[in-house]
Amino acid sequence: MDITKISPRPPGLAGALRARKSVDAIVARNDQEPGHGLKRSMGLVHLTALSIGASLGTGIFVILGEATPKAGPAVVLAFVLAAFTALFSALSYAELAGSIPVSGSSYSYTYATMGELFAWICGWCLMLEYGVSVAAVAVGWGEYINELLHGMFGIALPAAISESPGAGGIVNVPAIVIVLVAVVLLTRGASESALVNTVMVALKILVLVFFCAVAFTAFRAGNFAPFIPLGAAGVTAAASQVFFAYIGFDAASTAGDEAKNAKRDLPRAIILSLLIVTILYCLVAIAAVGAMPWQDIAGEGAALATILNAATTSTWPAIFLSAGAVIAIASVVLAVMYGQTRILYAMSLDGLVPRIFSRVNRRTRVPVVNIVVVGGIVSALAGFVPLGELADATSIGSLFAFMLVNIAVIILRRRHPDLHRSFRTPLFPLMPVLGVVFCALLLFGLGVSTWVAFALWMAVGLAIYFAYGVRKSELRSRPEEVEAR
Ligand code: ALA
Repeated sequence: MDITKISPRPPGLAGALRARKSVDAIVARNDQEPGHGLKRSMGLVHLTALSIGASLGTGIFVILGEATPKAGPAVVLAFVLAAFTALFSALSYAELAGSIPVSGSSYSYTYATMGELFAWICGWCLMLEYGVSVAAVAVGWGEYINELLHGMFGIALPAAISESPGAGGIVNVPAIVIVLVAVVLLTRGASESALVNTVMVALKILVLVFFCAVAFTAFRAGNFAPFIPLGAAGVTAAASQVFFAYIGFDAASTAGDEAKNAKRDLPRAIILSLLIVTILYCLVAIAAVGAMPWQDIAGEGAALATILNAATTSTWPAIFLSAGAVIAIASVVLAVMYGQTRILYAMSLDGLVPRIFSRVNRRTRVPVVNIVVVGGIVSALAGFVPLGELADATSIGSLFAFMLVNIAVIILRRRHPDLHRSFRTPLFPLMPVLGVVFCALLLFGLGVSTWVAFALWMAVGLAIYFAYGVRKSELRSRPEEVEAR
C-alpha cells in the first residue's frame, strides 16, 4: 500500500482535509507499540459487558415509561425499530473495529478514512455521546437514589442538595458522588474497573429478568388489543425516543488498545451486546404492557417500579427493582466515562488535545490525569446543570458519529479492498447505506433547538481545532503516516 511523504503540510483547512492517517501505519504502529502503554487485559466477556454496561440504563428504566403513551402496546415495535437503526451502525462499527483495532472508536476510524478535520468533528461529537451523556445519566442516578431512600426509609433529600440550580436546588450532590466513585474505580486500573463493570452488568440483567418474571405473573393478553392504537406516527416517535436506550453498544470500540485480541473480540462484543440488550428490551416491554394497560403507564420516573407495585401486593419487588436501577445506572456512568477518557487519550496521542490526556500512570497503566480532568468537568456538569434536555444533545452527537462510521466503512472498502477484516458487514453496501439513511431520518426528527445547540457546539469545536489541533497535530511530524491520495 502506498505511503508517501507529504511535507510540508498545506496550512489550515487544506492541510486538515488532506491529513488522512494511513491505515497500514496505524495497524503497524499498534503492532509495534501494543496498547501504547495501556495494559491488554480485556477479553470477550469484559468487552461485551463494557458495551452492555454503557447501554442498559436510563433508557429501559425510565424512557420506556415515557415512550409507551406515544405508541401504546406497539412500544414493543418501537424497540425493534430502534434496534434495527442501531444494528446497521453496529455492523459498521464491528467491521471497522475488526480492521482498525485501536482505542478511539469512530474518531480513529474517520481519521483513517476521511482525514483529520472529520476525525476532529467526530471526536467532538463523541464528547456529546460520552461526556455530556454521562453527566445526564449521573443526574438520573441521583433521582433513583432519592426514590430508593424514600421507598425504603421514607427519607427525602432536601432539594438544595439534590437538585441543580436550574431545577430548584443549589447543587446535585448525589450526581457528583457517583461521578467521583467512577473516577476512583477508573484510576485503579482498566481490569479492575472492567471486573466491577462485568459484575454490575450481570446484576442489572438479573434485575430485568426478575422484573419480567414478576410482571409475567400478571400478564393479560387483552392489554395488547388494539396493538397500534396511535398509528405508525406514534410508533416512529416512540422509536426515536427509545433509541437513546441503545446508545452505548459502540463502547467496546473505545477499548481497542486494552483488548487481549481486539481484531477477533471487538466485532463480536459489539454485535453480541446489541443482541442481548435488544432481547432484554423487547421482553421487558412485552412484560410491562402485559402487566399494566398502556394507558396507565404514565410518563414519569420509575415506570418499572410502578408496574411491579401494581402487579403484586407486596412492596419489596419494587424496592428490589429500584435498587437494581441504582446499580444499572451506576454502571452506565462507569462504562461511558471509561469511553470518554479513552477517546481523549487517542486524540491526545495524535496531538489534537494536550499531551497530558495520554500520560499513563506507571503502576496502574491507566491515564490518571485524563480520568481526573474528565471526572472534574463531568461532575461540575452533573452537579450544577439540569440535564434533562441534554438527552437530545447526546442523541444528535451519537447519530452524527454513527453516520460518519457508516460512511467510513464504504470509503475503507473502496480504498483498501484487501485489508484484513475479521468481520465484514453483510449485504455491502446496502447495510451501511441504510445506516446513513436511518441516522439521517432520526437526526432530522430532532427539534430545532437541539440543532441550534449542536451548531454552537460545533462552532466552538472548530475554533479549538483551528487554534490548537491543526498546529499541534502529530501527523505534522510523522509525514510517513499520512496516506497518499
Ligand atoms: N443507553 C444508555 C442508557 O439508556 C445511555 O442509559
